[in-house]
Amino acid sequence: MIFTKDDFGPNFHWGVSTAAYQIEGAHDSDGKGPSVWDQFVSKKGKIQDGSNGNHACNHYHNYAEDVALIQSLNIPNYRFSIAWSRIFPEGVGYINQAGVDYYNRLIDACLASDVVPWITLYHWDLPLALQRKGGWVNREVLHWFEEYVTACVKLFGDRVKNWMVLNEPMVFTGAGYFLGYHAPGVKGIKNFVPAMHHATLCQSLGGRIIRDLCPDAHIGTTFSCSHIDPASQETKDIKAAKRFDALLNRLFIEPAMGLGYPVEDLPIAKRVEDYLEVDDEKNMPFDFDFVGLQNYTREVVRHNWYIPYLQGQIVKAEDRDVERTEMGWEVYPKGIYKMLKRFNSYENVKSILVTENGVAFDDQVDSGYVKDPRRVKFLQSYISEVLKAKRNGVKVDGYFIWSLMDNFEWAEGYAPRFGIVHNDFETQKRVVKDSGYWYSRFLKSSKVML
Ligand code: NOJ
Repeated sequence: MIFTKDDFGPNFHWGVSTAAYQIEGAHDSDGKGPSVWDQFVSKKGKIQDGSNGNHACNHYHNYAEDVALIQSLNIPNYRFSIAWSRIFPEGVGYINQAGVDYYNRLIDACLASDVVPWITLYHWDLPLALQRKGGWVNREVLHWFEEYVTACVKLFGDRVKNWMVLNEPMVFTGAGYFLGYHAPGVKGIKNFVPAMHHATLCQSLGGRIIRDLCPDAHIGTTFSCSHIDPASQETKDIKAAKRFDALLNRLFIEPAMGLGYPVEDLPIAKRVEDYLEVDDEKNMPFDFDFVGLQNYTREVVRHNWYIPYLQGQIVKAEDRDVERTEMGWEVYPKGIYKMLKRFNSYENVKSILVTENGVAFDDQVDSGYVKDPRRVKFLQSYISEVLKAKRNGVKVDGYFIWSLMDNFEWAEGYAPRFGIVHNDFETQKRVVKDSGYWYSRFLKSSKVML
C-alpha cells in the first residue's frame, strides 16, 4: 500500500511515548521518594542484566534537549508519565515542590516547542510507602490514587489537556501481583484479583476526577492487547485461547465500557465477588473520550491442564517459525488491525488512539549512524494496518511510537532497544536512528510514503 500522512487526515495525533521510570533517572534527586521499582531492581536476579533505572536516560536533567529533539523531528505530540513519588514522596500527604517544578519545566518546554504534552498518570511506579501498606491489593489505594490524581490535575491541568489514567493495568497487575516478575514482585491469585479490581475502580475514578477538575480535558486510559490464535483447531486449544483472550484483552476494557468483567470466558474473574462493595459495579464504567490501544505482537495459545486457573499456555514465537524481535516477540502487523477492529466494536468506544507500538532490535551506532531498516519496515507495516482499519471505519485518531529513545525495559534491563533515537547509557549521547529520520520525514512532508 502506498500512502502518506495526509491519508490519515489533518486531525490525526502523531507522537512518541515514554514513561518516567524508564527514562528519567535521578531516582533519589530533589526529594523524590522511592517507588516499587526502585526497590525491585535492587533485589538479586530480578533484572536480566542486573541493571536499574537509577540513571536511565537522565531525562530528568536532559528533558530540554529531549523536547528540542522531538520538535526537530517534527513530532507534534509527546506522551510521558508522572512519577507519583516525585510529587508525593510518601505516596500521600506531603507534596514535594521540586518534583512539581520538574514537571512544570517539562510541560512548559513542550508548549514552548509546539509539542503537545500527553500525561499518563500511572505507568507502574507506585510509591514504595504505599506498597508497604499493600499497594494495589489494599482497597485504600482508591483514596491514595484520588489524592494523587487530584493534585496532578490541579497542578498541571491548566496547560495539559490530554490525560491517560493508567498504563496497561493488565501488565502491572498480572506481572506485578500475580507472576511476580515485575515490581513489586508479589505473586498469586489472592493478590492479583483484588489488585485487578482496585485498578479497575481507579481507572474510572481517575477519569471522573479529571473530568470534574478539568472539563475541557481529553481523557483516556491505555490497554495492552494482542491478537490471540489457538495453537490448533482442537476444541481444547480454542477454549484455552478464549480464556487467554478474556484475560489479556478484555479484563480491563470491558468493565470500563460498562460490560462488567468477562466472567463467562474467564472463570477466575468470578473471584472478584469477594472484593466487591456496594456501588462498585456502578462505578466501574467511565465515559472515556478515547481508549489507548498498545500493541506489539500476537500470541498463540495451547491447552495445558497443569497451568492453574487458565489451563493454557503461550507458545513462544521461538518455537514457531516466525520473524522475531529482540524481545522474542513475533512481528505480526495484521494483529494491530484485528485489535483495532475489536476495540472499535465496543459500543461505548468513542475514539481509539494507538498510544504505543514499536519494536526492539539490536541497534548499533556505526560511524555516527544507526541503520535500523527492520524498524522502519516494522513501523511502516503496522502503520499501514492502522490506515487500513481507519479506511474500514475504525475510529482511530492517533498513533504514538514506543519509544522516543532506548530506555530501561523493566525486567529485561537495557538490552532491548525500542527507541527511534539511540541512547548511549554511559555518555547519554542521543543518536537519531534511521527510523527516527524516516518518521520525521513522513511527518513533515505529504510526499513521503509508507
Ligand atoms: C508497554 C509498556 O507500557 C512500556 O513500558 C514497555 O516498555 C513497552 N510495552 C515495551 O515492552
